[in-house]
Amino acid sequence: MKNINILAIESSCDETSASIISNGKILNNIVATQSVHEKYGGVVPELASRAHQQHLIPVIHEAISTAGIAREDLSAVAFTRGPGLMGSLMVGVSFAKSFAYSLGIPLIDVNHMQAHILAHFIDEPKPSFPFICLTVSGGHTQLVLVKDYLEMEVIGETLDDAVGEAFDKTAKLLGLPYPGGPLVDKYAKEGNPQAYEFPLSEMPGLNYSFSGIKTAVLYFLRDRLKEDADFITRNMADICASVQFTLIKMLMQKLKRAAREHKVKEIAIAGGVSANSGLRAELNNLAGELGWKVYVPKFEYCTDNAAMIAMAAHYRYLKGEFCGLDVSPIAKMKL
Ligand code: KG4
Ligand code: ZN
Repeated sequence: MKNINILAIESSCDETSASIISNGKILNNIVATQSVHEKYGGVVPELASRAHQQHLIPVIHEAISTAGIAREDLSAVAFTRGPGLMGSLMVGVSFAKSFAYSLGIPLIDVNHMQAHILAHFIDEPKPSFPFICLTVSGGHTQLVLVKDYLEMEVIGETLDDAVGEAFDKTAKLLGLPYPGGPLVDKYAKEGNPQAYEFPLSEMPGLNYSFSGIKTAVLYFLRDRLKEDADFITRNMADICASVQFTLIKMLMQKLKRAAREHKVKEIAIAGGVSANSGLRAELNNLAGELGWKVYVPKFEYCTDNAAMIAMAAHYRYLKGEFCGLDVSPIAKMKL
């Protein structure tokens, strides 16, 4: 039987990535991170598109050459169609179209949020269906009931900011560089999570809201800094630990409710924030307490990467789900 070799491209935000999957096995995952945004304290869309244009061909070249295959061995080209930044998506989509056309092979469009979840099928242990996945990234916070590889239902999501944004905005208020999530995590390890209390936003059903905590941290710091100009430097670890504790508590409250209501004990987390050590620890505590089986992808498959796009593309290939050359990106693509 002919091998199924797929080239996958990810360019939805500020990571340019390419991966080759062969018969469902990931052969590599090449990622070029864009450092150009650091000095602006956030991703600048126009700069992201330009950096994708510079990085894309070298990254794809490396993926194909290190996989030990020739272009002619490719069965399909896959790309992230959305959600993401329009200009960034456009670079990946345009390249994928012309490359597939020149090789005379099919194109596969992939939903980035579905791919974050399918990253769980790259390595063992793999969750069994149905499972609930809490997808937590810089742009999204979703509770998803996963019924099959390509059958997913959003059962809860944030109505405003994503939890990654709450981490990054807190970090910015504390004077930490972008993206601040990993630094909040690092300081939090040394701090007391009960040192300060921040309000928990209560949303109906399984939905979330993370915009309130950003304002709460802003006012809290403004008041404390009036009394003590060194308040942040003196209490960095306690502030980070307390904010992180509140964010994790909000995430876990709805995750517990979702698991109970849907009678599911297979629980997964995905997306950049699933790298957070406090979140991982709390998930493991709950696993013991509630009899959950929990799944956390390897760090390199938590943040944006093309291996997860390749995994999703593999399942779409098996079902014959291809797209035409007239496909265009969708910035707000729904799951
Ligand atoms: O999935 P991702 O790489 O990109 C998006 O699709 O958004 O997620 C990036 C987000 C950023 O907000 C970043 O600060 C956050 O994930 N993040 C973390 C940690 N590592 C990455 N947040 C908290 N703790 C971490 N260890
Ligand atoms: Zn992502």
